[in-house]
Amino acid sequence: MGIRKFIPWPAIALTAAQVMTTYDHEAIDYSTYVSPFVGTTGGGNMFPGVSSGPFAVVKLGPDVSSGTTDAYSGYLPSGNITGFSMLHESGTGGAPKYGVVSQMPVAGRIMDPLADFSMGRRSEDLAEVGYYKSSLANGVTVELAATNHAGVYQYTFPSEQTNSIYVDITHVLPSFRGFGWGQEYRGRNIAVTTDGRYTGEGSYNKGWNLSPDWTIYFCGKFSEKPQSARVFKGSNITEARMADTSSVNTRVAEKIGGIFEFDSSTVTSYVGVSWISTDRACEYMEQELSGPPKFEDVVQTAKDRWNNEVFSKITTSSTNDNDLKLLYTALYGMHLIPSNRTGENPLWTSNEPYYDDIFTFWDLFRCSTALTHVLQPEAYEEQIRSIIDIWRHDGFMPDGRSSNFNGRTQGGSNADNVLADAYVKGVQGSINWEDGYSAIKEDAETQPPNNNDPIAPEASTKEGRGALPDWLKYGYITPSFTRAVSRSVEYSVNDFSLYQVATGLGKTADAQKYLDRSRNWRNHWNPDASSNGHSGFMVPRKADGSFVDQDPLSCGGCYWGDAYYQGLPWEYSMNAHHDFAHTTELVGGTLRMVDRLEKMFEEGLSSRAGKLSGTIFNPANEPSFTTPYLYNFVGRQDLAVQRSRYVAKTFYTTATNGIPGNSDAGAMQTWLLWNMIGLYPLTGQTTFLIGSPWFESMSINLGNGRALKITSSGGNSDTAYYVQSLRVNGENWTKNWLTWSDVFENGGTMEFVLGTQAKKWDTGDPPPSPASDK
Ligand SMILES: *[C@@H]1O[C@H](CO)[C@@H](O)[C@H](O)[C@H]1NC(C)=O
Ligand SMILES: *[C@@H]1O[C@H](CO)[C@@H](O)[C@H](O)[C@H]1NC(C)=O
Ligand SMILES: *[C@@H]1O[C@H](CO)[C@@H](O)[C@H](O)[C@H]1NC(C)=O
Ligand SMILES: *[C@@H]1O[C@H](CO)[C@@H](O)[C@H](O)[C@H]1NC(C)=O
Repeated sequence: MGIRKFIPWPAIALTAAQVMTTYDHEAIDYSTYVSPFVGTTGGGNMFPGVSSGPFAVVKLGPDVSSGTTDAYSGYLPSGNITGFSMLHESGTGGAPKYGVVSQMPVAGRIMDPLADFSMGRRSEDLAEVGYYKSSLANGVTVELAATNHAGVYQYTFPSEQTNSIYVDITHVLPSFRGFGWGQEYRGRNIAVTTDGRYTGEGSYNKGWNLSPDWTIYFCGKFSEKPQSARVFKGSNITEARMADTSSVNTRVAEKIGGIFEFDSSTVTSYVGVSWISTDRACEYMEQELSGPPKFEDVVQTAKDRWNNEVFSKITTSSTNDNDLKLLYTALYGMHLIPSNRTGENPLWTSNEPYYDDIFTFWDLFRCSTALTHVLQPEAYEEQIRSIIDIWRHDGFMPDGRSSNFNGRTQGGSNADNVLADAYVKGVQGSINWEDGYSAIKEDAETQPPNNNDPIAPEASTKEGRGALPDWLKYGYITPSFTRAVSRSVEYSVNDFSLYQVATGLGKTADAQKYLDRSRNWRNHWNPDASSNGHSGFMVPRKADGSFVDQDPLSCGGCYWGDAYYQGLPWEYSMNAHHDFAHTTELVGGTLRMVDRLEKMFEEGLSSRAGKLSGTIFNPANEPSFTTPYLYNFVGRQDLAVQRSRYVAKTFYTTATNGIPGNSDAGAMQTWLLWNMIGLYPLTGQTTFLIGSPWFESMSINLGNGRALKITSSGGNSDTAYYVQSLRVNGENWTKNWLTWSDVFENGGTMEFVLGTQAKKWDTGDPPPSPASDK
């Protein structure tokens, strides 16, 4: 510890919108607790720009180039701004995606369209929910607002000389990692008219998911007629006269775009985007920005949507400013992607909803999808339908997906877990569960075609289960497949997911088969592998059945070509949560398991995984997410509370580096939110492990008049957080877990008494281990 640097929160400017707002006086503006910059440094990769509501299509923000560092969501705190563009991811890694449909203001005239118009900043950028502002070094200010498919750029120039807006179709977020994952411009066109209206399309490829060419269409206009509107290609500016003579297109990576000049110090631009056509992009721009509205009203509408659809879902009695900032900023951060692109799918027509920008279920299935279910049941059902529809048309559900293309799959086919979680919790709506079952069965039985990924060439990294042949033949995965051990734990969890759905659908033979397969992780267990006084770890296993000699503290490079992906043997050996009673037997019983868990929080044991503290437990990575809560299985709920609370309070802050690692599309934020709530979901089961709530009172709005109300007495504070007793729905509760139907299905109450001393209150049955019991 002691290495965390405090980075001050950039000042929040009071916009005209805030001053002018005529609030319903009952309503609270929770958005004032959100800092979009939390998680933008220290590798969090959060997008701080403008998003008009949860899962919005347009994410309008700055694109910064340092020349060396990948800007995954466009933003970096230092470096030159190269443009402000309409599409971004948030909190992702791998290699940047999007950063397309950009504008860049240029003070003065543009003589050479190939010149570098990038510009440093005069002061730190400002951001609020629905609003973003950059002050460029040349005195130009840029303010941004957005609707679902359109954006507003409000420019103020330092003088009334002729000023320019530069539209570069070739603009993308570059990658400097040297893995060949960087996006490329792949051609297309732009047309302008003399009144400044412009339409066009750009095609791009690659990014982390190695996608083939995809195309985005755009339509822009300005608040006033430009003095000149021109297109350029290569280095050649052409005066525009008529629309049909002022268009250019290219098929190669040549600079192409538009230049608009204004004799004014203020200009506003309105831009719509569509994945279908330029006509559609124009319709969005005209409809969503009809009027056009005042800039402040666009900002306010976004704040209202975020308050109504997201922030007001969780209310607390807290007056602790820091806690409220953590709570509402985390809620914001978990709702930026995926993008709801229903009606915007260029690949097939269907009545099913369509969501893209899934980054990735490997990251999201533990905490995020279960919380989305609680907070956004409608969007959640749509997301389930969408991934089943992707299976119908693409052949496989995604693990990751962006620009309408599946990829990448880091471990198992974890959409299976997401579907199983919805299924066991009774999510029905318009979901076709027979198709849902066929989709997960495809993952379990069909090896996907190899996409020949250079970083893991032996089998598909695009979708499904690349290492399936070994899984079916041996019941484990040999080193002929990369990530063999971590994939095998995940395939076990995936097969358990099939068991759950098959059971519910009355497919008893399948249910038994997949329950048996869900125990296959055990085939990697070498009882003789030892480390730090403990024996028995999951290790690589050869086709002849012999184990590979493996240090349980080493995962090699922990990457695509290694036996363990982004986690140590110690961590993956604790990841078959559906079979945890058996894991406990393998390690030598409950006391040995408690000791093993304690070892995972001991500082100085590992230099690799616990990069912030040297613990085996890694707060920055998903395979460690459940670890602190595993104490519930072995009767030490007090330690679960102590460890998880420590992690939450140590690694999550309201500073720009206030997320322990990459946000992973909001996965980290949802881990924190469950800690605040005092529950932890076991995805694929109805079980929630009980922790300790942060607030004296919290209410979660579950829709349809239902709520989960969680209270705590006994001086809830940073020291008084051990559970002394609990009542659930008014009844004394002695189990350290409960189920979906107990408190979520129809709402419920949880009344905690907390104290400063650990107390053995959880005298009831331990949490279920369904694959161990049968
Ligand atoms: C950054 O922008 C400034 C103008 O503000 C320019 O002089 C400089 O060359 C740019 N630097 C880079 C690395 O692009
Ligand atoms: C600009 O492009 C036009 C049409 O392609 C060409 O005739 C002209 O020579 C070009 N001018 C310059 C300066 O390259
Ligand atoms: C997703 O987008 C579609 C089309 O814009 C819309 O009808 C639907 O209500 C959206 N879903 C949610 C949960 O807002
Ligand atoms: C519930 O627990 C309280 C103490 O926490 C005790 O006084 C009470 O008798 C219990 N009620 C029942 C029904 O067991």
